[in-house]
Amino acid sequence: MRKIEAIIQPFKLQDVKEALKDIGIDGMTVSEVRGHGRQKGHKEVYRGQEYEVDLLPKVKLEMVVPAARVDEVIRSVVSAARTGKIGDGKIFVYEVAQAIRIRNDDRGESAL
Ligand SMILES: Nc1ncnc2c1ncn2[C@@H]1O[C@H](COP(=O)(O)OP(=O)(O)OP(=O)(O)O)[C@@H](O)[C@H]1O
Ligand SMILES: [Mg+2]
Repeated sequence: MRKIEAIIQPFKLQDVKEALKDIGIDGMTVSEVRGHGRQKGHKEVYRGQEYEVDLLPKVKLEMVVPAARVDEVIRSVVSAARTGKIGDGKIFVYEVAQAIRIRNDDRGESAL
């Protein structure tokens, strides 16, 4: 299993959620976060406004998926979230040691 953490532009959340639903990814965690990439200290546009502050609102999606589906999920997120402009976001992939469904003690991929 792998955890895919995608930090995206907030206005892309609906598109990304729909793209993931289309490929059958059900479980996810979504958080509102703030961050910056390599343009730290430079201006970035958010909702038509230019911000000089260095921490901009972003949305973080976390999904734990079978390792065999990682590439497919990444393709889906990238194609839904890309505008081609700076600040589109980033994806990080982690190894996951275990998953447990609390209700019935399902383990591993059965718990996803
Ligand atoms: N190295 C990193 N570690 C953790 N979070 C990061 C990292 N780089 C970017 N992020 C997160 O991703 C968000 C979007 O980053 P962003 O897309 O601006 O990256 P970038 O490297 O500056 O690329 P670009 O040149 O396309 O803007 C940041 O606001 C931050 O929340
Ligand atoms: Mg950037």
